[in-house]
Amino acid sequence: MSLKQQTVLVLDFGSQYGQLIARRVREQKVYARILPCTTPIEVIREINPIGVILSGGPASVYAESAPKCAPEVFELGVPVFGICYGAQLMTETLGGKVHAAKNREFGHASITCLGKSPIFDSLPMELDVWMSHGDQIERLPQGFQTLAKTATCPHAAIANAARKFYGVQFHPEVVHTPRGKELLRNFLYNVCAARGDWEMSSFIDDTVKSVRERVGTDNVVLGLSGGVDSSVVAVLLNRAIGKQLYCIFVDNGVLRKDEFDRVVNNYTRSFDLQVNGIQAGKRFLSELAGITDPEKKRKTIGRVFVEIFQEEAKKIPNAKYLAQGTLYPDVIESVAAHGGPTAVIKSHHNVGGLPEKLGLELLEPLRELFKDEVRAMGLELGMPETLVWRHPFPGPGLAVRILGEVTAERVKVLQEADDIVMQEIHSSGHYRDVWQAFAVLLPIESVGVMGDERTYENAVALRIVESQDGMTADWSRLPYDVLARISNRIINEVRGVNRVVYDISSKPPSTIEWE
Ligand code: XMP
Repeated sequence: MSLKQQTVLVLDFGSQYGQLIARRVREQKVYARILPCTTPIEVIREINPIGVILSGGPASVYAESAPKCAPEVFELGVPVFGICYGAQLMTETLGGKVHAAKNREFGHASITCLGKSPIFDSLPMELDVWMSHGDQIERLPQGFQTLAKTATCPHAAIANAARKFYGVQFHPEVVHTPRGKELLRNFLYNVCAARGDWEMSSFIDDTVKSVRERVGTDNVVLGLSGGVDSSVVAVLLNRAIGKQLYCIFVDNGVLRKDEFDRVVNNYTRSFDLQVNGIQAGKRFLSELAGITDPEKKRKTIGRVFVEIFQEEAKKIPNAKYLAQGTLYPDVIESVAAHGGPTAVIKSHHNVGGLPEKLGLELLEPLRELFKDEVRAMGLELGMPETLVWRHPFPGPGLAVRILGEVTAERVKVLQEADDIVMQEIHSSGHYRDVWQAFAVLLPIESVGVMGDERTYENAVALRIVESQDGMTADWSRLPYDVLARISNRIINEVRGVNRVVYDISSKPPSTIEWE
């Protein structure tokens, strides 16, 4: 008999670290879910968490519009751990007092533990922590005691051990609190009695089972992009429903060199997927003719993709579901910094409202997972590292890397240059260090000399960046000899290019793509 999955609930009060808390919990092999702080108590009861973590947040608990959770959270009979704002809210809700500190505490601090506690188990009496708050706990609620203090923060950690309520005014989830992981682990294992049995293999088994139950004998349509997320969805669904999965992969004419053949072959031969590869390059390029505005390029490619996808999906018998590789960060409802909770749901993957247009129900088997967990799932499913660690590639492809009009000739030039960049980044061993590496075809020609002749040809920019999530990025300090080899090869091997430049701008203020 399998045990019921244990869940720790993270209630989000608008913290910038909400997702980080959930990831830290999952790293300890305990499943974590983030919900807005306003989640009704009935929903929380239904989830039946083994513990609740109240996140930090930018508000003051005594402010009129301060976000609050249902007070019954403290009546569930399960452990509660408040972090920063969460600890202050726990204090106020249970009858204590919070006030504005004389000095805002931000940055490194050292706390001193005043005695033993399950959450500080195996940790030293002096602990380096990361503080980020303007308010402080002034008076403890009844039944609470102080566990730790700093020179300026008299109640840095508090507890009502009998009721299993704990609160810290620092942030154990960030790397600047070096032993924070152990502290969270102590809460999970010593206080919540977590079993620590949340593992990717069992998550895959559960997902496969629930997909089978939901889909029954109907069919599922999936748009493949060649990227990590849709590929993992495909392999997972293949395991669950086999030939009831119909994949569509569209060549939009602005893919990387040989990408279409490579991807279709890989999917059909290595993964035994049912893939309908649609070669629609000409149709896309004729629709893109004359367009130079980047957003118009994106819209055109999006529109034509939806048209083609609709045409093809209609041919699939009994199709009831559209599968998508939506990830957890895309679906988390977060709380606005001020003025109460607001639902912010990104719909990045929901291409052009496809499910509505097709009259299909959405199937999103990765919607509980973070990107690194999707990669772990891919490896667990036996997918090769080369696919699981692929760089992101934008939907509008090379169209946003060809500045100016996209023509078949210019696509060819860029594909050749880009292919050399890829080869050299792989062979120099830098592929995994960089976030993305690619060439950009500039809308200028410059003078060069080849042999005895003057040339007047295209310039290509190299864009190679390092990043954690694509939100910020810095240009890669690759060794000069790698850059030199890329430049020499492009100028010698790609017809029509006589100059290569290296983009040394960071994001912000620049962006990763040039358009
Ligand atoms: P920027 O250029 O905004 O890019 O710094 C950040 C990340 O997003 C990718 N990107 C896109 N992905 N459709 C996509 O699917 C798009 O229109 C698009 N524009 C940018 C970009 O490659 C980088 O990883």
